[in-house]
Amino acid sequence: MNFTEIALNRQSCRSYDEHRPVEEDKLQAVLEAVRLAPSACNGQPYHITVCRGQAAKDAAAACMGMGMNKFASQAPVVLVLSEEAYVPTAALGSKVKKNDYRSIDIGIAAAYLTAEAAALGLATCILGWLDDGKLRQLCGLTQPVRLVITLGYAKEGDPLRAKKRKDLTELVSYLEATP
Ligand SMILES: Cc1cc2nc3c(=O)[nH]c(=O)nc-3n(C[C@H](O)[C@H](O)[C@H](O)COP(=O)(O)O)c2cc1C
Repeated sequence: MNFTEIALNRQSCRSYDEHRPVEEDKLQAVLEAVRLAPSACNGQPYHITVCRGQAAKDAAAACMGMGMNKFASQAPVVLVLSEEAYVPTAALGSKVKKNDYRSIDIGIAAAYLTAEAAALGLATCILGWLDDGKLRQLCGLTQPVRLVITLGYAKEGDPLRAKKRKDLTELVSYLEATP
């Protein structure tokens, strides 16, 4: 698949085959994609906790507040993306430029992870509705959890949806000379 094909095939999966585990080599390939992702000052200020078995169920439960994300409990793997310390240059840049590079870096890592998963035929859903406190306790983390990603195989028959996105004219403007 080329990149456009991957982008069209990646979708938020909310229906997993609970009986189909993720092969170890595919899990490692997905994690390797994160390792290759770019980040501010190449600092890679994040950590991924791979939750499987009962830990996956517990991590999923921490994303189900107010009845949300019930499907997460079907996923055989739940990846918890938490912050790590900035490298000094990125910390300085973030402070001077008042820009949250860490969240940006975690977003890019999630994009790489989910794209590689799609390329391998795996299904993912990025979850931002999460209970930071519960996840930190479960995973033994001291830094904030920013995203959770469910990983598995989609249930047979789960349809590929057409992408509903804003028109490019809403997203992009072109500037060729300063006014
Ligand atoms: C930062 C972020 C947080 C998200 N949180 C949730 C979530 O908690 N639950 C959920 O079902 N989907 C969540 N999504 C998935 C989006 O709803 C989804 O990406 C968007 O509707 C586009 O659909 P698609 O991923 O199928 O192309 C999240 C996506 C992102 C990028």
